[in-house]
Amino acid sequence: MGSPIRRIPPSYYGIHGDIKYNCLYPFLNKRVSALAPNRILEIGCGNGDFAAGMATLASQVRGLDKSHSAIMAADARHAAPNLNFEEFEWGVQSCSEFHKKFDLIILVLVLVTVSSNELAVQMLADAKDSLSDGGTLMIVDSHPCFRDCSFSTFDMHLSQADYNIDCHSYTVNVYPDSAKRASAAISFEDFHRSLTTMSAIGRKAGLAIARIDEIFEQGNAATPPFMCLEYIAQG
Ligand SMILES: C[S@@+](CC[C@H](N)C(=O)[O-])C[C@H]1O[C@@H](n2cnc3c(N)ncnc32)[C@H](O)[C@@H]1O
Repeated sequence: MGSPIRRIPPSYYGIHGDIKYNCLYPFLNKRVSALAPNRILEIGCGNGDFAAGMATLASQVRGLDKSHSAIMAADARHAAPNLNFEEFEWGVQSCSEFHKKFDLIILVLVLVTVSSNELAVQMLADAKDSLSDGGTLMIVDSHPCFRDCSFSTFDMHLSQADYNIDCHSYTVNVYPDSAKRASAAISFEDFHRSLTTMSAIGRKAGLAIARIDEIFEQGNAATPPFMCLEYIAQG
């Protein structure tokens, strides 16, 4: 497989600010607890903060990320006997060595970086082989309402028109401090997929959606920024 990733700045793993800690991770921790997995693989673990939380809920957690600086940050921030981080570029490297090893595989804001549906199918099929019997693949991505959200902890602009075209590249500019706009923008390209496409790429990879959750930011009941899809292997 060729590299699926385009133009990801080194700081990419650090964005999304407090919304991850106040809204996304608490929701996901509840779902992970409910699933009670023994062994967890997180692909695209960034600075490891979410993986470290999961290590209190499972007997083994492995975090993989293609970014050297993300893995360095994860190692520096977290140490636990049942937690380890490794540089790994999914899509270029294969998960095949993990055959049936993990009860839960989780991707938090990672599929949005994959630039084509064909690649996404290949990558999900690769991950599926690492799921234990009865295991769950959890994909957390931006919700279709994401474009309508105004966030409390950062200011974001995206190319609205492109966002509505399925799996079309759209540009996101994040201003961590809205008061100092022009100076501090982080700019990157993402690929939004409709629920229909998320279902179709799962099916092509041998996975069926078993559960869908919308994840709301506190105080904003109208426009959920994220959605969480749980896939299981098709029988
Ligand atoms: C938006 S960040 C999210 C990081 C983390 N999951 C979080 O919630 O903070 C996307 C992460 O996925 C990683 N990533 C993207 N494509 C990847 C791939 N093909 N293999 C491994 N990591 C990847 C990036 O390096 C980045 O750390």
